[in-house]
Amino acid sequence: MNKEDKNIIIVENLSKHYIVKKNILSKKNLIKAVDNVSFEIKEGEALGLIGESGCGKSTTASLILNLIKADEGKIIYKNMDLTKINDDVMRGLRKDLQIIFQASQGTLDPLMTIDELLKVPLKLHKIVDNSELDCEVTRLLNLVELSESDKYKYPYQMSGGQRQRIGIARAIATKPSFIICDEPVSALDVSIQGQILNLLETLREELKLTYLFISHDLKVVKHLCDRIAVMNKGKIVEIGETRKILENPKEEYTKKLISSQLFV
Ligand SMILES: Nc1ncnc2c1ncn2[C@@H]1O[C@H](COP(=O)(O)OP(=O)(O)OP(=O)(O)O)[C@@H](O)[C@H]1O
Ligand SMILES: [Mg+2]
Repeated sequence: MNKEDKNIIIVENLSKHYIVKKNILSKKNLIKAVDNVSFEIKEGEALGLIGESGCGKSTTASLILNLIKADEGKIIYKNMDLTKINDDVMRGLRKDLQIIFQASQGTLDPLMTIDELLKVPLKLHKIVDNSELDCEVTRLLNLVELSESDKYKYPYQMSGGQRQRIGIARAIATKPSFIICDEPVSALDVSIQGQILNLLETLREELKLTYLFISHDLKVVKHLCDRIAVMNKGKIVEIGETRKILENPKEEYTKKLISSQLFV
């Protein structure tokens, strides 16, 4: 990998708290979903964000993409603080910053063909001229290793793995520089997981992408990620090179996480 030392995203002291009622009688409870989190992601890097369910991974993702508002902190992208910019500027940045979700099925309109689905982001962000739309859809399908004939299918006519490839094609359609992969293979059969991970790795090289790769599965992040950030109860407890973290974890929580997955 041709990694540069330039940071693409810098997260500084980011926090998001929620006040919830546990039950009808109880007092209000403060949940520190993301609690004073700081890290940076270098251009071309894949940073893994790992931790147990509910530790704040998806909330971190939503904050970075400005889908929810931060209570505190900064998210610096191209010298701009995403927590401060107005909606118009953010709309322009949407195509640069993409996300791939766990279950693409839920995000694919069942009434649209694959062709129509892929044309939505292409048209919205004016990625190509109208005359080039068909060619571009074919190119995207080739990139995610599907065939041109898949254009005419509906999402229900595809397998889970193929649907996830469509989710990936939609994310790369806008030629982003940064993609958050939020548990992109968790809903898939183990035999298919490897294929999708290989595809994400190939695309990273070919399209010079940077990933924030969210997973609770250490096996998944082990091969793809250059560095890992370990999250527990809204905080990043440890961050470093993947091999170092896995071979020589410093924090008690990381050690437990590794041993709980019988990871070698
Ligand atoms: N809108 C919300 N209102 C109240 N609490 C929320 C809200 N969104 C998230 N939370 C809480 O914040 C915490 C972190 O949630 P988050 O979805 O970020 O976890 P996660 O690490 O992605 O978990 P998983 O691995 O299960 O996807 C959880 O306790 C969750 O219940
Ligand atoms: Mg999540």
